Amino acid sequence: MRNLIYLVAAIVIIPTDSLRADHGPSDTAGPSVGVMKPAIRHQNTHKHNPMLPNQVKGQIGDPLPGLTAAQLAAFTDGKDDFETSETVAGGLGPIFNRDSCVACHSAPATGGSSSISVTRFANISGGSFDGLESLGGTLLQDHAIDPAVAETVPPEANHTSFRNSTPLFGLGLIEAIPDKAILDNARRTPGDGVKGRASMVTDIVSGKTMVGKFGWKAQQATILAFAADAYLNEMGITNRFFPYENLPNGDTVKLAQFDTVADPEDQVDPATGKTDVDKVADYMTLLAPPPSGPLLPNAAAGKNVFVNLGCALCHTPSMMTDAKSPYIALRNKEVKLYSDLLLHNMGTLGDGIVQGVASGSEMRTSPLWGIKYSAPYLHDGSAMTIEDAIKAHDGEAKISRDRFNRLNKNQKQQLLDFLNSI
Ligand code: HEC
Ligand code: HEC
Repeated sequence: MRNLIYLVAAIVIIPTDSLRADHGPSDTAGPSVGVMKPAIRHQNTHKHNPMLPNQVKGQIGDPLPGLTAAQLAAFTDGKDDFETSETVAGGLGPIFNRDSCVACHSAPATGGSSSISVTRFANISGGSFDGLESLGGTLLQDHAIDPAVAETVPPEANHTSFRNSTPLFGLGLIEAIPDKAILDNARRTPGDGVKGRASMVTDIVSGKTMVGKFGWKAQQATILAFAADAYLNEMGITNRFFPYENLPNGDTVKLAQFDTVADPEDQVDPATGKTDVDKVADYMTLLAPPPSGPLLPNAAAGKNVFVNLGCALCHTPSMMTDAKSPYIALRNKEVKLYSDLLLHNMGTLGDGIVQGVASGSEMRTSPLWGIKYSAPYLHDGSAMTIEDAIKAHDGEAKISRDRFNRLNKNQKQQLLDFLNSI
């Protein structure tokens, strides 16, 4: 189908500048622009000690343990597609954000996060929200295959916000958590005024109403749906779930001028019977969770601090998958994600964007596993450190944040040691 150019090694050699967020003209003051990931904070010097408890072994970016040879081959094949740069002849654009998945999901390994953010825009007046869909909203595509077709933030928009790239490690485990477990989280009344509600979405793959688990707003329920969404919205590759191109600022004439590849652009590979969307979804489904360090004494004390502060009211330490996954490696597993996967009213920390059932102030509790690998933090990448991320909590998390602010230096360090080991 497309001319595949494999960029497997590119991520190692890309100069600092090219990893910088390259947003449209409206967001040059964006908080995450030009920020590099902190270098190597993921070394786990204790990983060879077999006696230490609470540890998930392996390297970041590995496949799940216990896969069959065929599953491993699907992982590798999907990873290749994830790392492939799309070409104009293959359907890239006309408007897009980057030309490969790995461009934004690269640190500290393929499948991770990055400091790259995308831009959302809208008009918010008199308490009413307009996503400006007829003008290309809410997601800006800030690259184009020709300057004449470029999309910009339209003057009608009076609100922009940023969404930082999230890590994808362990997504298959998260998908395998039954909806019921998440709905049960929503029925709890854990205290501190914390409520939380499930984001019910219509899954584009099955047509079913399901609990949204993925994205900052819990806007997608399945990995396959997110993969299809990302192929269209980040790269401009139409596929069987999203067969129509994004219109540059809503302009059908401009699109027609530059959209020369027949839709859907993502075609079945005769060798595997799968499209790239399917293959990349397989890869993400089979990505292992981030390896966790041992809970050394300071970190173990930090776990108590975490619970006492009320963090675990939203950042639920673990949930179980059920027995239904087609993959044995995902059945009946404890998923130590540190999230209830619910939407919470975060007050001033909300991004203002209404998406699905999520209001402007509601955000999904971020999973905290592997947090040491994924700076910058928060939906807009505005927090450089874990401590800054906690201090920005508001709304339902205000009581918990205030408790954090009252900790002494030693307790804060214990909490950070804990967060850096999960
Ligand atoms: C321009 C940067 C960019 C590119 C390119 C990109 N992503 Fe993302 N990705 C993001 C951002 C930003 C988010 C958070 C989006 C949100 O929640 O609104 C995200 C979130 C995700 C998530 C949700 C994970 C979670 O639970 O939060 C998945 C899955 C994903 N991307 C897969 C892909 C795939 C597959 C590709 C390639 C087809 C891709 N992405 C290309 C920036 C990018
Ligand atoms: C009311 C629910 C709630 C409580 C309580 C809460 N959080 Fe959060 N947390 C969230 C949500 C929602 C986000 C995502 C916010 C955003 O960026 O929009 C988040 C994000 C984070 C992040 C950034 C994650 C990332 O990937 O960028 C960290 C770190 C974090 N929380 C730690 C804590 C700690 C430590 C506590 C206790 C002091 C705590 N949280 C209490 C809901 C909560």
